[in-house]
Amino acid sequence: MALIEFEHVFKRYAGSTSAAVDDLNLHIETGEFLTLLGPSGSGKTTTLMLLAGFEAPSSGAIRLDGKAIESLPPHHRNMGVVFQSYSLFPHMTVAENVGFPLSVRKVPPSQITDKVTAALAKVHLENFTHRKPNQLSGGQQQRVALARALVFEPRLVLMDEPLSALDKKLREEMQLEIRRLHRELGVTMVFVTHDQSEAMTLSDRVAVFNQGRIEQLASPQELYDSPANPFVANFLGDNNMINCTLEPGPDAGSGAQTAGVKTSGGQTLQARISAATTGAESSAVRLCVRPEFLQVAAQRTALTTPNCIDGTLIDLIHQGDHWRLVARLGGVGTNQASELPQWFAKISPGALPGGLVVGQNLCLGFRPEDAWIF
Ligand SMILES: Nc1ncnc2c1ncn2[C@@H]1O[C@H](COP(=O)(O)OP(=O)(O)O)[C@@H](O)[C@H]1O
Ligand SMILES: [Mg+2]
Repeated sequence: MALIEFEHVFKRYAGSTSAAVDDLNLHIETGEFLTLLGPSGSGKTTTLMLLAGFEAPSSGAIRLDGKAIESLPPHHRNMGVVFQSYSLFPHMTVAENVGFPLSVRKVPPSQITDKVTAALAKVHLENFTHRKPNQLSGGQQQRVALARALVFEPRLVLMDEPLSALDKKLREEMQLEIRRLHRELGVTMVFVTHDQSEAMTLSDRVAVFNQGRIEQLASPQELYDSPANPFVANFLGDNNMINCTLEPGPDAGSGAQTAGVKTSGGQTLQARISAATTGAESSAVRLCVRPEFLQVAAQRTALTTPNCIDGTLIDLIHQGDHWRLVARLGGVGTNQASELPQWFAKISPGALPGGLVVGQNLCLGFRPEDAWIF
């Protein structure tokens, strides 16, 4: 049995016309690290608040260990919560902040000291017990918030963008720290972020949110390698797209893995069929290729890939570990240059053809197995 089950959960805030959470169905397994990933306003925080009990669903069921919890108040749910802003009590010391959930739960003071010391040791802050929050860095304050969420040994730890106020280097350090804690403590964690790389670093599974719904729920690798639709393909990693029509091909059920599409400029390309590929011939589809899967060459004959699409080089940028090539696709059926789609390629320094100049014609190549039809 899943630890948590959301079944057909809707949340409509008073005075709002659309649902913040729209028919959510989600199972959270014991011990997993689950991330809710999505753009701002997609319903991530609302989902977390429903789980913590700070908001009530408009309809639907939320179960913990198979038992309905919609009417259970937050402090009876045994969940630790860490918010984006540090939300420490400014007048309390670190030790008092971390001990607070225990005093609220009427734990005897003699046990509180030991539990607080143990929780602070988990986040490497055992020497900071007497400091006040304003005597700590942002990263240290978030560690205190984490210790406070862990101190009563909750079943679940919920975190809402806890690292977003930190600078990049500290954020990456804290990500590794949270990974370590999850591994060592084995506690179930539900983490909210809009940062795809953070989600990929931390998670066993990621639920990609869009407009109050889950677009796809899978491991980071599966989301990246087999996105269910263009939204997921665009939200995780970079993506190039072009509108095409589906070519006549093998019948459904023939086991074919790829199909042909035609660009409006008449070029034919082969790509993988996804579950979301529209079946009918001549139907409008989109072809998507990640920039790291593109090869570039001045001449088609220099490419090793079956697919090739023509373009004009419009920019070439050195980005340290790779080159970013920007190309405007040619021959795709519109006369206005500004409307032609632009693609970009990430090329490792060793694979960049010599002598490229902005304005020249270019071939962009890719393997059918590296592109998707949606
Ligand atoms: N307290 C509230 N009252 C009314 N609308 C809200 C409230 N909180 C969030 N919303 C709306 O619900 C939607 C989802 O918000 P939220 O769950 O905060 O998204 P996220 O955390 O993904 O940014 C948004 O359209 C937001 O404006
Ligand atoms: Mg939010």
